[in-house]
Amino acid sequence: MNLDEVICYCQNVTSGMIKSAVDNGATTLAEVQKITGAGTVCGSCIDNVQRLIEQFTAEH
Ligand code: FES
Repeated sequence: MNLDEVICYCQNVTSGMIKSAVDNGATTLAEVQKITGAGTVCGSCIDNVQRLIEQFTAEH
């Protein structure tokens, strides 16, 4: 996976930033939103953010 890929364009959040939020203990969309800001503006990236959270959580 490309960890530099931008997932949330509104907040310029990459998949790597979502990964580090999960690595730091975030397990839910709300927690990742709070830490990274991803998905808090237009919301169009939320499905992708959620999918990555599930993927990174499964790696733990
Ligand atoms: S692209 Fe993520 S909130 Fe708009």
